[in-house]
Amino acid sequence: MEQKPSILIDRLAQEFHKHFGHPPDFIVSAPGRVNLIGEHTDYNDGFVFPVAIDKYLHIAARKRSDDQVHLHALDMNEACTFNLGTIEDAKTPPWGNYLRGVAHFLQEQVLRKSGHTLNGISAVIAGNVPISAGLSSSAALEVASALAFLGVCGLEIANTGINSNSEIELIQLPPMELAALCQRAENEFAGVNCGIMDQSISLLGKADHALFLDCRSLEYKQIPLNLTDILLVICNTNVKRELASSEYNKRRAECEKGVEILQQWMPTITSLRDVTLADFKKYEAELPQITQKRCRYVVEENTRVQSAIDALAAKEINTFGKLMNASHTGLRDAYEVSCDELNILTDIAQSIDGVIGARMTGAGFGGCTVNLVYQDAVEELQDRVMKEYPRRTGIEPDIYICNVGDGARIKWNSYG
Ligand code: GLA
Repeated sequence: MEQKPSILIDRLAQEFHKHFGHPPDFIVSAPGRVNLIGEHTDYNDGFVFPVAIDKYLHIAARKRSDDQVHLHALDMNEACTFNLGTIEDAKTPPWGNYLRGVAHFLQEQVLRKSGHTLNGISAVIAGNVPISAGLSSSAALEVASALAFLGVCGLEIANTGINSNSEIELIQLPPMELAALCQRAENEFAGVNCGIMDQSISLLGKADHALFLDCRSLEYKQIPLNLTDILLVICNTNVKRELASSEYNKRRAECEKGVEILQQWMPTITSLRDVTLADFKKYEAELPQITQKRCRYVVEENTRVQSAIDALAAKEINTFGKLMNASHTGLRDAYEVSCDELNILTDIAQSIDGVIGARMTGAGFGGCTVNLVYQDAVEELQDRVMKEYPRRTGIEPDIYICNVGDGARIKWNSYG
């Protein structure tokens, strides 16, 4: 049985006290995410449309008087210690590298410039974002740790809803710069060549809104979803995403190869974002078959995101749902990042009246599907998934009915 967020936070504060002999100074909470549409477009400079879910990674933290980082991950019962003077990568436990990377780039890119230095930290980490499920538990860890490191330096970032302590110094750091820093930590310290979507939404999520993000200009807009009588249902295949990282990098390389070839006819393009569907059709025959499929998917997905935004503005939720379904078809057949289990879950969902749209979400090869479902169809979806999915796959699924939650937040001084 899952714990309520407030119970989890109380437990975290108690565990901190037990572990370090003091209460924490603050607790940071950063959410996981699902992407409604715009998959594998972020690293092609394209558009994404994710939401933060009300599942959070929490870090209880307290400033230390030395330059040590002492971390304890409750759910894994693992500890990690390092010294801020000698941050190096590729150490165990693997989750420690996210924090090493974030600390390193905060120091290099932000603190040094503003005349601050990183401070040692004691922290206890716990959360309810399922791990390795494609719901961005690692981005949540990066974002929460960035805010925790800033917090123990006596800093919060200005002009966001994150701040809660009027006595603390506000640093002028655009949130997208912090998201890019977290992404860099994942790229360079965890070896995952991800785009910027997950970190952005964990930082910038807003309850009942989705984030329309242009991954080239990094401009964004929080768009109201108005989901009255519609629920966000996430189905977890519980398939570990073993191929995710090698195939992810292969897809990136295919897209880059496509751009390189297309540049012979369109010399000004620098990414697939610059290619319209009409131009793509003119030159697609010049591309090797696999490259052609991958690139067509990306070009089409970018247009789908824009159509989805228009559909939402026009209150045409069924059109939005059809675009989600089409996105899944593209990911399955052209981009080839889905898997049998994800396809079974989307097939079940799409066959139910009252499911508006259903698709895989995240990198693929396992993980979760995202479904927009009218309230009165949720029970049927749950029943059918719980019966048919194990029969067809031999695996028990998990289903989470989520609210669209807020991005990262800090709560100070109430844990004594
Ligand atoms: C993972 C990456 C994101 C994005 C998605 C696919 O979640 O971390 O940057 O590329 O896959 O859309």
